[in-house]
Amino acid sequence: MKVLIFGVNGFIGHHLTKRILNTTDWSVYGMDLGFDRLGKSLDNPRFHFLEGDISINKEWIEYHIKKCDVIIPLVAIATPKQYVEDPIGVFNLDFEMNLNVVKHCVKYHKRIVFPSTSEVYGASAEPEFKEDETFLVLGPIQKERWIYSCCKQLLDRVIYAHGTRGDLDFTLFRPFNWIGPRLDSLDAAKEGSSRVVTQFIAELLMKHPISLVDGGRQKRCFTYVDDGIDALMKILENKDNCCKNEIINIGNPDNEYSIKELASILKSLFMEHPDHKDDKEFSEIIEVSADDYYGKGYQDIYTRKPSIEKACRLLNWEPVTGLEESLKMTLYSFLEENETAHS
Ligand code: UGA
Repeated sequence: MKVLIFGVNGFIGHHLTKRILNTTDWSVYGMDLGFDRLGKSLDNPRFHFLEGDISINKEWIEYHIKKCDVIIPLVAIATPKQYVEDPIGVFNLDFEMNLNVVKHCVKYHKRIVFPSTSEVYGASAEPEFKEDETFLVLGPIQKERWIYSCCKQLLDRVIYAHGTRGDLDFTLFRPFNWIGPRLDSLDAAKEGSSRVVTQFIAELLMKHPISLVDGGRQKRCFTYVDDGIDALMKILENKDNCCKNEIINIGNPDNEYSIKELASILKSLFMEHPDHKDDKEFSEIIEVSADDYYGKGYQDIYTRKPSIEKACRLLNWEPVTGLEESLKMTLYSFLEENETAHS
């Protein structure tokens, strides 16, 4: 099988590429702006990489969609701080560029495995989000945070409509707060613009305060990336066409923790680390308002728990990695990366 991945150097892209190359005989064609996370994959003869830009390399994109069997478009801005700071950038990249890929998949009758998001459920009050039942609840237009959710939702609907009319074979997957090594760039986190786990690790490294937005009572279900990739591999294998035109949550409902709990576990893990246990000072944990941290365009999501009944049933999959273990592997990897960057 020939797998085409846009955003192959991103968090999900590089983990998925490594897994495909290590465990199958498939080929991966990948494009990204950079290649710093791809490591040994770059030397694999079954990996074909173009350093390129999804908004520029249009011919390469169309040619490879035509040539490959399954397309996974992972290019997107995925950090809430950027949703409020650059909503038009989110629209241009996350929506327009991906719509173009979807259109080519329709034209050449290719299978698309598309990353929807836990964010499409928005502020739904359901205790567990179900792919085929839960209402998708977003705030007002002035709350620009929702533009990401809205872009993804419209793409989900476009893909679904093509699928039900028989001109696209698709699977939509919805990751719920996947975490793991190389989640975001540590440099971006040091500048204050990354997802919560990387952000807290960067603060711990810099001895800056860890900020709990609005007290940190909001909860997330954190999913270790290897568990997520296990599910994604089963989606790609698509045994007996089990995922054809399905929408599937991939998350770990057992790892539901508040952001306050997350901060405290990460801080303890950092303080126990052999390289840091003798540090003279550690980050304090403080509370900040959402307005101060993100600005007026932000609105939070207080609980977000996936139902994984579909994933279990269709894929015969369930996540196995607990939160503390996931955080330890993530933290240790970032500390090593930071060490290497400064040695
Ligand atoms: C994320 C992002 O939108 C996407 O990566 C993705 O689509 C989706 O959710 C997912 O991974 O499932 P969110 O979980 O809100 O959204 O993003 P984080 O930046 O990781 O924030 C989690 C929570 O921590 C938020 O409530 C935020 O306010 C809080 N936070 C963040 C803090 O309390 N302090 C910080 O320094 C940063």
